[in-house]
Amino acid sequence: MNRFARIIGTGSYLPPKIVTNDDLSKTIDTSDEWITTRTGIKERRIVTNESTCDLGVIAANNALDMAGIDAAGLDLIILATTTPDKIFPATATMLQKAIGANCPAFDLQSVCAGFIFALTTAEQYIKTGAANKVLVVGSETISRIVDWQDRSSAVLFGDGAGAVVLSGSEKTGILHSKLCSDGNYLSSLQVNNNFINETGFIEMSGNEVFKIAVNRLSDIAQDTLNACQMSSDELDWMIPHQANIRIISAVAKRINMPMDKVVVTLDKHGNTSAASIPLALDIAIRDGRIQKGQTLLFEGIGGGFSWGSILIRA
Ligand SMILES: CC(C)(COP(=O)(O)OP(=O)(O)OC[C@H]1O[C@@H](n2cnc3c(N)ncnc32)[C@H](O)[C@@H]1OP(=O)(O)O)[C@@H](O)C(=O)NCCC(=O)NCCS
Repeated sequence: MNRFARIIGTGSYLPPKIVTNDDLSKTIDTSDEWITTRTGIKERRIVTNESTCDLGVIAANNALDMAGIDAAGLDLIILATTTPDKIFPATATMLQKAIGANCPAFDLQSVCAGFIFALTTAEQYIKTGAANKVLVVGSETISRIVDWQDRSSAVLFGDGAGAVVLSGSEKTGILHSKLCSDGNYLSSLQVNNNFINETGFIEMSGNEVFKIAVNRLSDIAQDTLNACQMSSDELDWMIPHQANIRIISAVAKRINMPMDKVVVTLDKHGNTSAASIPLALDIAIRDGRIQKGQTLLFEGIGGGFSWGSILIRA
């Protein structure tokens, strides 16, 4: 009998401090008009004192509430983050303690593709029967690794967290997932922190990232549809990584997905890296757009490059 990993609860959290494009234009040579036209972003949330763990804990508790299960019932926690609170221990273990769970917990680092990689990893535990209830969190305080003087990258990012609770199901859940990595593009998007005496910042070749993102994401989204013998008109929603509205709409166009079936939150959140997909998912579930039984496509890409997509029946 098939065993699927089904999402039974979602949650998210954004730090309260809002930084608008106009706010940024007071400290760097940019404008609301440039940022909105080139990226679709209007504002982002930025932490003041909150840690990656703090954001993740609130998102996780919201997801557990929706799932109607206690943290003590979890078999595994996977936290996708690029901005762990410490080199060690894993931020996932701090989150495990804070929510009152007693299961294994580990961090997974795949930058903006982190949630896709973490969800796929969790799915394997569930499919094999090694776990039945898994918490997957994407949490980032990416503002800590942004060079706030670099206008070409500073305008893109924001902080936040999203979480899902997965449960084993015999009926429905993740139908297909595909992951890819190509380490040839290291220097296109990286934090060049040598771990000895530097705290690095995001270095990015925006144009190159843009082109690769559009090509890789549309290919992998189409591969995922093909593997399920589906066409995009059978999808109810696409929930993409929220990097740039022009990347999102170019991918949607290539797979024939109308934009009114694409969940977009980046105008309010910017690029929250591993948090962006579960954040967008939670918002669209709570506002009633995404309903039980619908078919969803997740896709995302991050530094490395690593990219992936997941087709799931809610
Ligand atoms: C970063 C990005 C928005 C830049 O947009 P773009 O259309 O490629 O713009 P360019 O980099 O060609 O820059 C065009 C001009 O705007 C300028 N510029 C760059 N950032 C600016 C800003 N914040 N405000 C105003 N001008 C800016 C550049 O200096 C350049 O000026 P020039 O023509 O005088 O040299 C776009 O490339 C992008 O989104 N790439 C993907 C990045 C991404 O998503 N990374 C994370 C992936 S997970």
